[in-house]
Amino acid sequence: MERTEITWHAHAVSRADRERRHGHRGCVVWFTGLSGCGKSTVANCVDQKLFARGAQTFLLDGDNVRHGLNASPAMLTQSHSEPFAKRFGLGFSAEDREENIRRIGAVAELFASAGLIALTAFVSPYRRDRDAVRRQVEERGLPGDFVEVFVDTPLAVCEARDPKGLYKKARAGELKGMTGIDDPYEPPLAPQLTLAASEFPPERLADQVIAYLESAGLLAIRADDSR
Ligand code: ADX
Repeated sequence: MERTEITWHAHAVSRADRERRHGHRGCVVWFTGLSGCGKSTVANCVDQKLFARGAQTFLLDGDNVRHGLNASPAMLTQSHSEPFAKRFGLGFSAEDREENIRRIGAVAELFASAGLIALTAFVSPYRRDRDAVRRQVEERGLPGDFVEVFVDTPLAVCEARDPKGLYKKARAGELKGMTGIDDPYEPPLAPQLTLAASEFPPERLADQVIAYLESAGLLAIRADDSR
Protein backbone atom coordinates (compact mmCIF):
# COMPACT_ATOMS: atom_id res chain seq x y z
CA MET A 1 0.00 0.00 0.00
CA GLU A 2 1.20 3.51 -0.83
CA ARG A 3 2.34 5.37 2.29
CA THR A 4 1.24 8.94 2.88
CA GLU A 5 2.77 11.37 5.34
CA ILE A 6 -0.12 13.30 6.80
CA THR A 7 -0.62 14.63 10.32
CA TRP A 8 -3.75 15.76 12.16
CA HIS A 9 -3.54 19.41 13.29
CA ALA A 10 -5.40 21.00 16.19
CA HIS A 11 -7.26 24.20 15.24
CA ALA A 12 -6.66 27.55 16.93
CA VAL A 13 -10.42 28.00 17.31
CA SER A 14 -11.69 24.91 19.09
CA ARG A 15 -14.94 23.08 18.61
CA ALA A 16 -16.00 24.09 22.11
CA ASP A 17 -15.37 27.78 21.23
CA ARG A 18 -17.69 27.43 18.26
CA GLU A 19 -20.30 25.54 20.26
CA ARG A 20 -20.30 28.25 22.93
CA ARG A 21 -20.90 30.88 20.26
CA HIS A 22 -23.73 28.83 18.71
CA GLY A 23 -25.22 28.04 22.10
CA HIS A 24 -25.55 24.35 21.30
CA ARG A 25 -23.49 21.26 20.63
CA GLY A 26 -22.23 20.15 17.25
CA CYS A 27 -23.74 16.80 16.34
CA VAL A 28 -24.93 14.59 13.49
CA VAL A 29 -28.59 13.66 13.16
CA TRP A 30 -28.60 10.74 10.74
CA PHE A 31 -31.95 9.85 9.12
CA THR A 32 -32.05 6.42 7.50
CA GLY A 33 -34.81 4.53 5.71
CA LEU A 34 -36.14 3.37 2.38
CA SER A 35 -36.47 5.65 -0.61
CA GLY A 36 -39.77 7.52 -0.25
CA CYS A 37 -40.00 6.91 3.52
CA GLY A 38 -40.07 10.61 4.31
CA LYS A 39 -36.45 11.13 5.46
CA SER A 40 -35.93 14.33 3.48
CA THR A 41 -39.30 15.77 4.38
CA VAL A 42 -38.83 15.25 8.11
CA ALA A 43 -35.17 16.32 8.03
CA ASN A 44 -36.16 19.53 6.19
CA CYS A 45 -38.85 20.18 8.76
CA VAL A 46 -36.36 19.69 11.63
CA ASP A 47 -33.91 21.98 9.81
CA GLN A 48 -36.56 24.68 9.42
CA LYS A 49 -37.66 24.50 13.04
CA LEU A 50 -34.10 24.56 14.42
CA PHE A 51 -33.13 27.39 12.07
CA ALA A 52 -36.16 29.39 13.25
CA ARG A 53 -34.93 29.13 16.82
CA GLY A 54 -31.47 30.37 15.88
CA ALA A 55 -29.57 27.09 15.74
CA GLN A 56 -26.72 26.60 13.26
CA THR A 57 -27.77 23.69 11.08
CA PHE A 58 -27.12 22.22 7.67
CA LEU A 59 -28.89 19.45 5.78
CA LEU A 60 -27.10 16.98 3.52
CA ASP A 61 -29.61 15.29 1.30
CA GLY A 62 -29.35 12.13 -0.86
CA ASP A 63 -30.22 13.33 -4.33
CA ASN A 64 -28.42 16.68 -3.93
CA VAL A 65 -25.13 15.18 -2.76
CA ARG A 66 -25.28 12.74 -5.66
CA HIS A 67 -25.25 15.77 -7.99
CA GLY A 68 -21.92 17.04 -6.65
CA LEU A 69 -19.59 15.41 -4.15
CA ASN A 70 -20.87 11.93 -5.01
CA ALA A 71 -21.78 12.38 -8.67
CA SER A 72 -22.29 9.32 -10.85
CA PRO A 73 -19.72 8.18 -13.42
CA ALA A 74 -22.06 9.43 -16.18
CA MET A 75 -22.17 12.91 -14.64
CA LEU A 76 -18.40 13.01 -14.19
CA THR A 77 -17.68 12.10 -17.80
CA GLN A 78 -19.06 15.52 -18.78
CA SER A 79 -16.03 17.19 -17.22
CA HIS A 80 -13.48 14.41 -16.66
CA SER A 81 -11.85 11.53 -18.48
CA GLU A 82 -13.59 8.13 -18.60
CA PRO A 83 -11.06 6.44 -16.29
CA PHE A 84 -11.39 9.29 -13.76
CA ALA A 85 -15.20 9.14 -13.90
CA LYS A 86 -15.14 5.38 -13.49
CA ARG A 87 -12.77 5.57 -10.53
CA PHE A 88 -14.46 8.33 -8.53
CA GLY A 89 -18.10 8.34 -9.71
CA LEU A 90 -20.63 6.54 -7.52
CA GLY A 91 -23.62 4.37 -8.33
CA PHE A 92 -25.66 2.02 -6.15
CA SER A 93 -23.57 -1.14 -5.76
CA ALA A 94 -22.86 -2.14 -2.14
CA GLU A 95 -19.34 -0.77 -2.48
CA ASP A 96 -20.48 2.50 -4.06
CA ARG A 97 -23.06 2.97 -1.32
CA GLU A 98 -20.33 2.30 1.24
CA GLU A 99 -18.16 5.03 -0.28
CA ASN A 100 -21.18 7.35 -0.57
CA ILE A 101 -21.84 7.02 3.15
CA ARG A 102 -18.14 7.23 4.05
CA ARG A 103 -17.75 10.55 2.24
CA ILE A 104 -21.00 11.94 3.62
CA GLY A 105 -20.04 10.75 7.10
CA ALA A 106 -16.71 12.55 6.83
CA VAL A 107 -18.43 15.77 5.72
CA ALA A 108 -21.07 15.50 8.47
CA GLU A 109 -18.30 14.96 10.99
CA LEU A 110 -16.57 18.13 9.79
CA PHE A 111 -19.84 20.05 10.19
CA ALA A 112 -20.23 18.70 13.72
CA SER A 113 -16.63 19.75 14.45
CA ALA A 114 -17.59 23.22 13.24
CA GLY A 115 -20.27 23.20 15.94
CA LEU A 116 -23.15 22.71 13.52
CA ILE A 117 -26.11 20.41 13.80
CA ALA A 118 -25.57 18.34 10.66
CA LEU A 119 -28.74 16.65 9.42
CA THR A 120 -28.36 13.88 6.85
CA ALA A 121 -31.03 12.10 4.80
CA PHE A 122 -29.66 9.06 2.95
CA VAL A 123 -31.04 5.57 2.48
CA SER A 124 -27.78 4.30 4.02
CA PRO A 125 -28.97 0.70 3.85
CA TYR A 126 -25.98 -0.98 5.50
CA ARG A 127 -25.68 -1.10 9.29
CA ARG A 128 -21.92 -1.42 9.08
CA ASP A 129 -21.56 1.80 7.11
CA ARG A 130 -23.78 3.77 9.51
CA ASP A 131 -21.94 2.30 12.51
CA ALA A 132 -18.62 3.36 10.99
CA VAL A 133 -19.88 6.95 10.77
CA ARG A 134 -21.08 6.80 14.37
CA ARG A 135 -17.64 5.64 15.50
CA GLN A 136 -15.90 8.42 13.63
CA VAL A 137 -18.26 11.14 14.86
CA GLU A 138 -18.14 9.99 18.47
CA GLU A 139 -14.38 9.48 18.45
CA ARG A 140 -13.78 13.08 17.38
CA GLY A 141 -16.60 14.41 19.55
CA LEU A 142 -18.42 12.79 22.46
CA PRO A 143 -20.57 9.68 22.84
CA GLY A 144 -24.09 10.65 21.85
CA ASP A 145 -22.99 13.08 19.13
CA PHE A 146 -24.37 10.71 16.48
CA VAL A 147 -28.14 10.45 16.59
CA GLU A 148 -29.53 7.68 14.41
CA VAL A 149 -33.14 8.24 13.37
CA PHE A 150 -34.88 5.31 11.73
CA VAL A 151 -37.66 6.56 9.49
CA ASP A 152 -39.77 3.45 9.68
CA THR A 153 -42.24 3.52 6.82
CA PRO A 154 -43.47 0.16 5.47
CA LEU A 155 -42.20 -0.69 1.98
CA ALA A 156 -45.82 -0.87 0.75
CA VAL A 157 -46.36 2.76 1.74
CA CYS A 158 -43.08 3.92 0.12
CA GLU A 159 -44.01 2.00 -2.98
CA ALA A 160 -47.50 3.49 -3.13
CA ARG A 161 -45.99 7.00 -2.82
CA ASP A 162 -43.23 6.25 -5.36
CA PRO A 163 -42.42 9.96 -5.87
CA LYS A 164 -39.72 9.28 -8.46
CA GLY A 165 -41.35 6.25 -10.13
CA LEU A 166 -38.35 4.09 -9.16
CA TYR A 167 -40.31 1.30 -7.46
CA LYS A 168 -42.45 0.95 -10.57
CA LYS A 169 -39.32 0.69 -12.71
CA ALA A 170 -37.78 -1.84 -10.32
CA ARG A 171 -40.93 -4.02 -10.35
CA ALA A 172 -40.91 -3.87 -14.14
CA GLY A 173 -37.27 -5.04 -14.15
CA GLU A 174 -36.06 -1.76 -15.67
CA LEU A 175 -34.04 -0.78 -12.58
CA LYS A 176 -31.75 -3.27 -10.86
CA GLY A 177 -30.62 -3.08 -7.24
CA MET A 178 -33.46 -0.95 -5.87
CA THR A 179 -33.34 -0.90 -2.07
CA GLY A 180 -36.25 -2.87 -0.60
CA ILE A 181 -37.01 -4.65 -3.90
CA ASP A 182 -33.90 -6.53 -4.98
CA ASP A 183 -31.34 -4.87 -2.72
CA PRO A 184 -31.17 -5.09 1.09
CA TYR A 185 -32.13 -2.56 3.75
CA GLU A 186 -30.77 -3.30 7.21
CA PRO A 187 -32.79 -1.42 9.84
CA PRO A 188 -30.84 -0.04 12.80
CA LEU A 189 -30.69 -2.36 15.82
CA ALA A 190 -30.51 0.38 18.43
CA PRO A 191 -31.50 3.71 16.89
CA GLN A 192 -31.86 6.73 19.16
CA LEU A 193 -35.27 7.27 17.61
CA THR A 194 -37.70 5.31 15.47
CA LEU A 195 -40.32 7.38 13.68
CA ALA A 196 -43.62 5.77 12.74
CA ALA A 197 -43.52 7.93 9.67
CA SER A 198 -46.61 6.62 7.91
CA GLU A 199 -48.78 7.32 10.95
CA PHE A 200 -48.01 10.95 11.77
CA PRO A 201 -47.52 14.17 9.80
CA PRO A 202 -43.90 15.32 9.20
CA GLU A 203 -44.38 18.31 11.48
CA ARG A 204 -45.18 16.06 14.44
CA LEU A 205 -42.27 13.71 13.64
CA ALA A 206 -39.93 16.71 13.48
CA ASP A 207 -41.11 17.78 16.94
CA GLN A 208 -40.29 14.27 18.17
CA VAL A 209 -36.74 14.59 16.83
CA ILE A 210 -36.28 18.02 18.40
CA ALA A 211 -37.63 16.75 21.73
CA TYR A 212 -35.02 13.98 21.61
CA LEU A 213 -32.19 16.43 20.84
CA GLU A 214 -33.34 18.56 23.76
CA SER A 215 -33.54 15.64 26.17
CA ALA A 216 -30.07 14.47 25.08
CA GLY A 217 -28.65 17.90 25.90
CA LEU A 218 -27.58 18.57 22.32
CA LEU A 219 -29.44 21.86 21.99
CA ALA A 220 -27.48 23.46 24.82
CA ILE A 221 -23.81 23.65 25.68
CA ARG A 222 -22.43 21.50 28.46
CA ALA A 223 -21.49 23.41 31.57
CA ASP A 224 -18.73 20.86 32.31
CA ASP A 225 -17.22 21.00 28.82
CA SER A 226 -13.62 22.17 29.14
CA ARG A 227 -12.45 21.14 25.65
S1 ADX B 1 -27.55 5.20 -0.46
O1 ADX B 1 -28.08 3.85 -0.51
O2 ADX B 1 -26.22 5.29 -1.07
O3 ADX B 1 -27.57 5.79 0.90
P1 ADX B 1 -28.75 7.66 -1.37
O4 ADX B 1 -29.55 8.07 -0.19
O5 ADX B 1 -27.46 8.37 -1.62
O6 ADX B 1 -28.55 6.07 -1.35
O7 ADX B 1 -29.61 7.84 -2.69
C1 ADX B 1 -30.89 7.30 -2.71
C2 ADX B 1 -31.76 7.96 -3.77
O8 ADX B 1 -31.25 7.63 -5.06
C3 ADX B 1 -33.17 7.42 -3.70
O9 ADX B 1 -34.01 8.27 -2.95
C4 ADX B 1 -33.58 7.33 -5.13
O10 ADX B 1 -34.15 8.55 -5.52
C5 ADX B 1 -32.31 7.20 -5.91
N1 ADX B 1 -31.98 5.82 -6.38
C6 ADX B 1 -31.57 5.54 -7.62
N2 ADX B 1 -31.29 4.23 -7.75
C7 ADX B 1 -31.49 3.66 -6.53
C8 ADX B 1 -31.36 2.33 -6.03
N3 ADX B 1 -30.95 1.35 -6.80
N4 ADX B 1 -31.65 2.11 -4.71
C9 ADX B 1 -32.07 3.12 -3.93
N5 ADX B 1 -32.24 4.39 -4.36
C10 ADX B 1 -31.94 4.67 -5.64
